[in-house]
Amino acid sequence: MNAYRRLRRALGRALYERRYGVRTSDVVSLTEFGLDHRERVYYSPASWRTLRRALPPREIGGHDVFVDLGSGMGRMVLEAAAHYPFKRVIGVELSAELDEIARSNVAGFRRRLRCPDVELVRSDVLDYPIPDDVSVVFLNNPFRGEIFSAAIGNLLRSVDRSPRPVTVVYYNPVEEPFLLATGRFRHTRTVAGRGGGVFGSTRVYTIGARPGA
Ligand SMILES: C[S@@+](CC[C@H](N)C(=O)[O-])C[C@H]1O[C@@H](n2cnc3c(N)ncnc32)[C@H](O)[C@@H]1O
Repeated sequence: MNAYRRLRRALGRALYERRYGVRTSDVVSLTEFGLDHRERVYYSPASWRTLRRALPPREIGGHDVFVDLGSGMGRMVLEAAAHYPFKRVIGVELSAELDEIARSNVAGFRRRLRCPDVELVRSDVLDYPIPDDVSVVFLNNPFRGEIFSAAIGNLLRSVDRSPRPVTVVYYNPVEEPFLLATGRFRHTRTVAGRGGGVFGSTRVYTIGARPGA
């Protein structure tokens, strides 16, 4: 992208955030909070509209429950609660500082929310049991390796306890090979990024029943 277009996009984002009184744009290293770990990814928000490009609002009903695992300053929580008729929208974030900013963003956005039931949970994903009514999971490359596999194991246990269709929207899907190797994730849609690679792309999956179940 050339310098002029980059500047125009940055200005557009800044104006949008000013207009709605939210702060989600920064890129923040977890070292700042003493939370760095080789499998935890720093805070960098998905673009506004990432969710809507991958998951048309008409596919969501009033019984659906959304969770963003690694929700940072809450940009995708706001996107989900503002544009979809979700029953409940949840954000789970490790950093207390980022969670605090997300809370203030949600408070400022309240009047614009289509789904008023927004829950922000300050927790390591490893300590967070996925509620058995969650039907849409959003991931923006929040963690990798063993943390990722433990979080997915947690999700699959929830689906096996309470069988239901679950959609997973995965932005920057670096751990896709792990998902597909479980044999439980069926790829249904791709929104390609500019460069055509993993970064900037969004992959959507549905979770199938446990073999033999
Ligand atoms: C790339 S950012 C994505 C933020 C947000 N989902 C978005 O798209 O705007 C990844 C986030 O995951 C969080 N994170 C990393 N490891 C985590 C863990 N073990 N449990 C919960 N959150 C985690 C980071 O603090 C960061 O805010």
